[in-house]
Amino acid sequence: MMPIGIDKIGFTTSQYVLNMSDLAQARGEDPEKFSQGLLLNALSIAPVTEDIISLAASAADQILSQEDKEKIDMVLLATESSVDQSKAGAVYIHSLLGIQPFARSLEFKEACYSATAALNYAKLHIEKHPESRVLVLASDIAKYGIGTPGESTQGAGALALLVTKEPRILTFNDDNIAQTRDIMDFWRPNYSTTPFVNGMYSTKQYLDSLKTTWAEYQKRFDGHLSDFAAFCFHIPFPKLALKGLNKIMDKSLTAEKKAQLLENFDASISYSSQVGNIYTGSLYLGFLSLLENSTDLNAGDKIGFFSYGSGAVSEIFSGQLVEGYQDQLKDKRQQDLDRRQPLSVADYEKLFYEEPQLDSAGNCQFQEYLTGPFALTAIKEHQRQYQRVINHDKT
Ligand code: CAA
Repeated sequence: MMPIGIDKIGFTTSQYVLNMSDLAQARGEDPEKFSQGLLLNALSIAPVTEDIISLAASAADQILSQEDKEKIDMVLLATESSVDQSKAGAVYIHSLLGIQPFARSLEFKEACYSATAALNYAKLHIEKHPESRVLVLASDIAKYGIGTPGESTQGAGALALLVTKEPRILTFNDDNIAQTRDIMDFWRPNYSTTPFVNGMYSTKQYLDSLKTTWAEYQKRFDGHLSDFAAFCFHIPFPKLALKGLNKIMDKSLTAEKKAQLLENFDASISYSSQVGNIYTGSLYLGFLSLLENSTDLNAGDKIGFFSYGSGAVSEIFSGQLVEGYQDQLKDKRQQDLDRRQPLSVADYEKLFYEEPQLDSAGNCQFQEYLTGPFALTAIKEHQRQYQRVINHDKT
């Protein structure tokens, strides 16, 4: 069978950061509740000029060559922080990146699960059209509100995944198992800018979806955890993913295998512990973090993925690392994270919750903030204006 999978990965987060110890102090919490209880050290905070479209365009801009832009014929944006009920954010991104016109551009939604669905669609498309390339974008801003229980698990960021035949990072195995259950653990009605959350219930549902989907995966594919070098999880906060790993590690594993899975788990949460929840991109940020921080991975290794979107849809699947995958990675990612500008809690509250102030004709100008290479620069007659900007100097 023709190998299909992930050929390139780009990642962008916002240029501002809130340290969890500052948040703990302001909210009267023990800092260890966040650093040990959630395994979170910092959250990326996006200003009003940095939305899911600018983040996703910036992530893709990191990886796309001119040839990619000529060969991409689908742009799929997975998000639950959409800026328009009608027009797909992917259409703006297609234009900002200069992708050839004879392409499909659309948006996918099912909470944090949708990027996995988009990858499945990309795979089916490449099976039919092997010369095509598909750009899958996972972009979200997680915003729960000041003083809410979810405040400590906010974040912002986008992943760009280029799906092709003969990929240079990961080949998908044909072993996906999905599960749907109609529950109200986390949802955001159209009239609300922040989600409603049954926090404890959501964590129970995450873990139970994992347990039951994993059991079905094992049954259908005779799967054993010992076959995997690493398992990546959806990461609403790293501690929950760790509970997930502990749930599927059984007594049959050797001490060496357990140690490898735990070591690779630590590598997979490094970026999320500094960025927070980026909803649908967080599973793939975990994968990128694994690739860029693990010292115990080899070509041919099998990697497991657990995708979970509240509501709820979950899926388990696997892929195989490709020879030379290291050549497709970026070595200065940590420096990018370290360069984010720290915010006081008061500045975070002002920046993260600023809303566009439209005049009666639907116009709005914004103060200039640090962003990636693309930014929302104005709204004119209710139309969002994006531009390539130069205020993201990272040298
Ligand atoms: N030192 C060390 N640890 C401490 C501590 C201290 N001083 N104080 C508390 N802790 C520990 C607690 O024991 C707990 O750990 P365990 O679960 O292992 O017992 C942990 O810190 C968190 O403490 P609480 O449960 O009291 O925390 P909380 O009330 O702040 O709520 C939360 C946590 C429910 C996850 C909340 O952050 C939330 O609602 N988050 C948003 C919802 C979410 O992320 N759900 C995840 C599943 S849904 C999903 O996956 C989709 C998605 O992306 C949203």
